Amino acid sequence: MNGELRIVDDVAAAFAREVVAAFLERPGEEFDIALSGGETARACYERLAAEGGHAIDWLAVNVFWGDERCVPPDDPDSNELLARQALLERVGAANAVYPMRCEESLDAYQLRLGEVGRLDVVHLGLGPDGHTASLFPGSAALDADDCLLVTFNEDPSGRNKHRRMTLTYAGIARARLALFTVAGEAKRAAMEAVYAGEDLPAGRVKAERVLWLVDRDAAPRALLQPH
Ligand code: 6PG
Repeated sequence: MNGELRIVDDVAAAFAREVVAAFLERPGEEFDIALSGGETARACYERLAAEGGHAIDWLAVNVFWGDERCVPPDDPDSNELLARQALLERVGAANAVYPMRCEESLDAYQLRLGEVGRLDVVHLGLGPDGHTASLFPGSAALDADDCLLVTFNEDPSGRNKHRRMTLTYAGIARARLALFTVAGEAKRAAMEAVYAGEDLPAGRVKAERVLWLVDRDAAPRALLQPH
């Protein structure tokens, strides 16, 4: 795995603090963040809205997604719907919101990301199978050409449903900060495997800075100091 692993009591609170810090330290006028899907992300966004909302000038924020399921934006499985409910509808207007739309060509998102250049933050989760974004073990997107920042993908195991659009490793690598949030006992096996250097999709993520925020239930046992 790449980057720093920080064990925290409250992943959502630590996430909110890191996003606020990244916003305040942003080099440009605007702040470009790519959001994740999943229930850990939902908790992170609700906390960010509650605690970080005031520190961030959302009119300077451009919102992207790290991945999306190819479903309508009002589908319960939509990552866009998750982020709108947990964050965007709670903090007021952002400068721009760029949902991933599978029915549009990849070029539109690729061009949008190309225009941005660097993303300030890419938020990532960890699946129990070691996936992140929609980069699944054994899936085609793991070997996407480096010039592709975003691509379509599917989970060959069938465990994660829906056709997806996802940032590629090259797309994630444009992040100033790739910020992982991992919480709960159900993630410990995957976290242990990534930490041990097993070749899982999440372990391959590179960026200018990679930070893993992991709670004690998911943390590698070797890192847990006996109380
Ligand atoms: C997705 C997410 C995915 C998620 C992990 C963790 O679209 O499914 O982007 O990568 O972050 O599967 O999800 P949970 O937090 O729900 O375990």
